[in-house]
Amino acid sequence: MKVNGRRYRTIWLEGRDGGVVRIIDQRVLPHRFELLDLRTAEDIRKAIKDMYVRGAGLIGAAAAYGMYLAAREAGEASFDGDLANAAENLKNTRPTASNLAWAVNAMLASLLGQGGTRAQKIEKARLAAEAIADGDAESCRNIGLYGLELIKAAAGKKKNGAVHILTHCNAGWLAFVDYGSALSPVYAAFDAGIPVHVWVDETRPRNQGAALTAWELGGHGVPHDLIPDNAGGHLMQHGMVDLVITGADRVTRRGDAANKIGTYLKALAAKENGVPFYIALPSATFDFTMRDGTREIPIEERDPAEVRCMTGKTADGRIETVQICPDSTPARNWGFDVTPARYITGLITDRGIVEASEQGILKRYPEHAHE
Ligand code: MRU
Repeated sequence: MKVNGRRYRTIWLEGRDGGVVRIIDQRVLPHRFELLDLRTAEDIRKAIKDMYVRGAGLIGAAAAYGMYLAAREAGEASFDGDLANAAENLKNTRPTASNLAWAVNAMLASLLGQGGTRAQKIEKARLAAEAIADGDAESCRNIGLYGLELIKAAAGKKKNGAVHILTHCNAGWLAFVDYGSALSPVYAAFDAGIPVHVWVDETRPRNQGAALTAWELGGHGVPHDLIPDNAGGHLMQHGMVDLVITGADRVTRRGDAANKIGTYLKALAAKENGVPFYIALPSATFDFTMRDGTREIPIEERDPAEVRCMTGKTADGRIETVQICPDSTPARNWGFDVTPARYITGLITDRGIVEASEQGILKRYPEHAHE
């Protein structure tokens, strides 16, 4: 997508020998737009762990590039063992999103036990990582095209005014390599001239909605309003939300969806008020090994400091973190929650819109029927 008129992805290879992974540093958005170079597999591990990059698709692509850098660092004789270690380190960074383990496993499958010279293996790793990044972007572009039809239909039902879409967290292009999942249909609708307006949940504790979704939508010219996390139910009761579309970090074969903490409450409010609730995801976000999401999906618990503090810009332009509770207040910080399939109207995937049920999902993904 574009920033100041120039087209960017969130991650790409740089350098004459392709040995540098360049990212948009999401820690300083929306106040500064900065690029950062990562040169080692350890740099990538840290960038994922400490959320310089975040979002399901982007951490998958970053991990794939991390495996490529690991291949460059691996010894001739210890190549497979070195890669297996790097894979473990990368997978241990963030447990909830499927895309990360999916991408690392895809890299291992194409690299382990292969013949050829070290140079050939490194080139193979580069091509595999680029294919994962390109695949993520293409999936998200297709999600946009399928989701566009939903927004068109919602616009057709309204006599006048914009289609009001509520979203939670950031499932825009910053959360992927390009386009986004939940926001890809919004961009497609806006670009097609359909009047849309987005309610942007701030998304405590890290405020990915306020910092990232608002920045993205503003950059693209999409009308939007930032709202406190607790406002969605009120807006739905008053007919001010036509659709909810969020992203997902992992979706089970039955259609239970893990997404940023607070998503479940939006789904409950949507059900109560008859508002369609959609989850948008690329195929790599499905976890076909899991059924009951509430019981089985691992939920990342993060540093309590993220709850106890807030980061923002001071009047004189410095980025500062301040504490918002008493010095001794303890806090807990679960990153995600699970919305059971029964609250989900449909899944917007790169293969089309799918019913959130095992039957509906397997109809579109028959190759996983016997897992
Ligand atoms: O903790 P994050 O920012 O990596 O969380 C992931 C997310 O951005 C959201 O849960 C998102 O809605 C789904 S990922 C596209």
